[in-house]
Amino acid sequence: MTSRRLLVTGGAGFIGCNFLRHWIKTHPDDRLVVLDALTYAGNLASLPDLQTRSNGRFVQGNIGDRALVDSLLKTEAIDTLVHFAAESHVDRSILGPAAFIQTNIVGTFTLLEAFREHWQQQGRPDHYRWLQISTDEVYGSLGPADPPFSETTAYAPNSPYAASKAGSDHLVRACHQTYGLPTLITHCSNNYGPYQYPEKLIPLMCINGLLGRSLPVYGDGQNIRDWIHVADHCRALEAALEKGIPGESYNLGGNNQIKNIDLVRQLCTYLDDRAPDLPRRPAHSLIRYVSDRPGHDRRYAISTAKAARELGWQPAIKFEHGLRHTVSWYLNHKHWWQPLLSAAYRAYYRQVYGEDGAAET
Ligand code: NAD
Ligand code: DAU
Repeated sequence: MTSRRLLVTGGAGFIGCNFLRHWIKTHPDDRLVVLDALTYAGNLASLPDLQTRSNGRFVQGNIGDRALVDSLLKTEAIDTLVHFAAESHVDRSILGPAAFIQTNIVGTFTLLEAFREHWQQQGRPDHYRWLQISTDEVYGSLGPADPPFSETTAYAPNSPYAASKAGSDHLVRACHQTYGLPTLITHCSNNYGPYQYPEKLIPLMCINGLLGRSLPVYGDGQNIRDWIHVADHCRALEAALEKGIPGESYNLGGNNQIKNIDLVRQLCTYLDDRAPDLPRRPAHSLIRYVSDRPGHDRRYAISTAKAARELGWQPAIKFEHGLRHTVSWYLNHKHWWQPLLSAAYRAYYRQVYGEDGAAET
């Protein structure tokens, strides 16, 4: 395959920075341009070294800045747009949905229009790709006996985050149907692994455990998520770009459904094993049940049959191994996460978990 010229939005976030590492290893000759606004979730310390690579570049900027995006698409002769940039945290979308509408819907629309025009100006080349990184949350919530989400499951988003991602997906789909833009949409389940911002379940539990703070479990802890290691997700995105059929969508997951409380208990045993100087042990003594998230989806499960059949992809990392490794990563990368526990983060934390809100024991 000839080399590509990628614009990767949101590359300073969790999945984006893991994708960049994967792509540099597997496609060393490709041009990689990263566009990221460096919101609270974006972090230059997460990026692989792009500056000293002759074919990599980081640009700080907003996907909603049409003039900037137009100029990058043109001057960099971009043929592949991998769209990670988003407001991504459900709890923040409940506190303040406006930013989610602005970035995930209006921002995506601006970027999509720019890419469509660029593609049309270049003569509508077949090999151009827009890869939309969507989520399983657009499908809503499953009951205990429901079959897993498939690519034909109707959208039924329940949080402002999920609704904004659904809106974004619909714009991408319409752009393919109406103008023929070669788009791909992937719907992935819950990712875990290195460089995930501390607000999300697994890093939050690792960091709180290492600091001897409470481990807040929402509601009855029986909600189920299907966890996938971020490295498996990145391999799937590569397979989608290489083998995916324009206009199609692909569901991705870890085939690994776990109740939140079981996950947190398992994580606690790894903390006990791996962290010699835990302030409180056993770590599970820190678990606290706290008020439930409003509109909390009960269960996600996703069928990866289409991705296996059409992309030749399957998740490979066993959860026990991936989780153990992730716990060790947070243990060994305090220098990465300590600066993120800023006053702004603490203020956010108090808003979600309350003044005493399981923040301290
Ligand atoms: P993240 O919050 O860690 O990172 C988001 C990145 O986007 C940050 O670097 C941020 O600075 C950047 N960004 C935000 N608004 C921007 C804007 N207006 N312009 C430019 N950059 C902007 O998110 P993540 O967990 O890495 O998720 C990445 C994508 O994958 C999102 O689209 C999310 O919906 C999707 N997704 C995430 C998961 C998951 O489990 N984390 C699962 C499925 C899909
Ligand atoms: O399913 C894919 C989605 O996974 C992505 O689209 C989102 O961007 C990503 O944030 C994630 O959403 P969730 O809401 O499922 O992830 P989160 O880590 O916030 O929560 C996972 C589960 O753990 C969920 O049931 C809520 C629960 N939880 C979370 C936190 C932060 C707790 O019980 N306590 C907590 O403190």
